[in-house]
Amino acid sequence: MTSKPTDQTTAGTKTVSFAPAGPLAGRIMVPGDKSISHRSLILSALAVGKSQITGLLEGEDVLATAAALRAMGATIEKSGDVWTVQGVGVGGLMQPETAIDLGNSGTSVRLLMGLVASHDISVTFTGDASLSKRPMGRVIEPLSAMGAEFTARMCSDGKACLPLAVRGLCPAVPLEYRLPVASAQVKSAILLAGLNMPGVTRVIEPVLTRDHSETMLKGFGADLTVETDKDGNRIISLTGEAELLPQKIKVPGDPSSAAFPVVAALLVPGSNIVVENVGINPTRAGLFEVLQKMGGNIIYKKQRTVGGEPVADIHVKHSKLTGIDVPADIAPSMIDEFPVLFIAAALAEGTTTTSGLHELRVKESDRLNQMAEGLSLLGVDVTEREDGLIIVGSGEPISGSKKKTAIKTALDHRIAMSFAVAGLVTQTGVTVDDMSPTETSFPGFADMLATLQGGTK
Ligand code: S3P
Repeated sequence: MTSKPTDQTTAGTKTVSFAPAGPLAGRIMVPGDKSISHRSLILSALAVGKSQITGLLEGEDVLATAAALRAMGATIEKSGDVWTVQGVGVGGLMQPETAIDLGNSGTSVRLLMGLVASHDISVTFTGDASLSKRPMGRVIEPLSAMGAEFTARMCSDGKACLPLAVRGLCPAVPLEYRLPVASAQVKSAILLAGLNMPGVTRVIEPVLTRDHSETMLKGFGADLTVETDKDGNRIISLTGEAELLPQKIKVPGDPSSAAFPVVAALLVPGSNIVVENVGINPTRAGLFEVLQKMGGNIIYKKQRTVGGEPVADIHVKHSKLTGIDVPADIAPSMIDEFPVLFIAAALAEGTTTTSGLHELRVKESDRLNQMAEGLSLLGVDVTEREDGLIIVGSGEPISGSKKKTAIKTALDHRIAMSFAVAGLVTQTGVTVDDMSPTETSFPGFADMLATLQGGTK
């Protein structure tokens, strides 16, 4: 039972095969949190003075945000392990000279649309084939109510998509907005816009989503309060015009990236690993909770606070998993982790049911459909519903594809990494048609797997 990933590169895509290769062992770190990395750069670019960031995720998505902020006047440099950002101050963004290409990154485009909306500049945003299909109306609607003007391409389904142009308004009009979808990107876009206008911008969040923007805005000195009303709605109030103070930021490891080695170690017999320095903010750690309920041996050790965020070293041992009903209300705290949960469910004994996951259809790909098709190809018993998957696991390794068809990743990093993990527990191995999207969030993913495969217990 040996074999390391084997790869073949053609015209920018990277086909890689993954196969069972014995227990995973050792201690690893995963790259910095993607959400916190984007926000670190954006808020530093708006502060007056020099901020320093360590642990920044150097993936394509975050580098796209950095390039966009540079094009709007911020100075962003790296020396050794430290990123230094010389901010322009709230209101100080400048007119970029060309259109800004944000590649695959939904977070970059939606957060930057918010920033531009209250500056007196016009910006055109473009993206790759995946980003150009994703809905932008959810951000256009509230930002238009604040006074920004948008011209967007209509996708085939009649929804507003990239490329799009934003004409900001300064001063714009503060807004009170109840989020119609549970989206941290929409919440953050509105709050970022609110920084550069007089008055109180208020976001009402019926369902809690990741709260990094709120924590970090307060850390940078913004006047922001969070209250919960009697119906359980979270009310976030931000008073503009804010003055942000430069900060020293330590970005913790990304729980959404740690998800892959954690699930791999649970599934591969004999494994015993530690993923160090992982963010365990409750708005992000739903996957670990669900896996524990399925019988996963996952223990948080050395719990501590780094830069205002809870962090731990996560110890994981191979475990026999049992299928469960995943409650719909846990979805926002693990919204990016469902693809890899579906792989765990395929090996668990019994039925795993998921629901309330409409949002997965508008991520980097339609993740419900991509995962259902890939798992069916591997012979897993899976039913696709409009808002979730039902997976009946046998409690045994996946038998695998007789046809040796490569799994399609559709420019989606998390689909690619999920099926790489599946390859480690599929008798015939798994070929993934393109691993290059993993560069967006997890540079070094294949090396990380190889380290664990070569690790000593
Ligand atoms: C993110 C929010 C989530 C998540 C994405 C990152 C963020 O998107 O899926 O990967 O950094 O705010 P939604 O806001 O669309 O739920």
